[in-house]
Amino acid sequence: AADPKQGKEQTLGLIKPNAYSKRADIIGLIKKDGFTIAEQKEVTLTRNQVENFYAEHRGKKFYDELCTFMTSGPTIALLLEKADAIKEWRRVMGPTSVETAKKEAPNSIRALYGENVTKNAAHGSDSPESAKREVGFFFHVEDTYAMIKPNAVSHK
Ligand code: PPS
Repeated sequence: AADPKQGKEQTLGLIKPNAYSKRADIIGLIKKDGFTIAEQKEVTLTRNQVENFYAEHRGKKFYDELCTFMTSGPTIALLLEKADAIKEWRRVMGPTSVETAKKEAPNSIRALYGENVTKNAAHGSDSPESAKREVGFFFHVEDTYAMIKPNAVSHK
């Protein structure tokens, strides 16, 4: 997902349901860290969508808990751009385990907004291949339409 014109790379970032209420703070950190948010979408994922997104974890002992959590409320999907975005976003998120994040990366998003290894506030693609797949899952890319539609806007 590299753009040779700008030397920028794209990755998919998710703000998970447990951190939805902190989305403004997290988006502030993302911008402060020099990412461009090329696209943003709010979506409450269905069970089917989550099972598809996390298909690589099917069969693992945490899979059911992960899928239940990820359907429990709104998620913010972000198309992030920066030089070396995939690695950079994983650095800004911190380690998957919130316990480890608090020890090793106390200013990371997971240390600040995560509760445990499941409710760990954020997701990021882990390779160029997964970034391509995951960006395409949420956003219109090239000639395909995104599988995920945003939540209906409520006018309260
Ligand atoms: S692993 O163990 O290599 O499959 O882990 P990883 O690739 O880092 O991704 C694990 C994702 O599943 C979520 N999750 C858990 N991981 C480990 N243990 C438990 N109990 C667990 N529960 C949920 C974890 O938050 C990772 O989600 P993402 O969205 O990929 O960060």
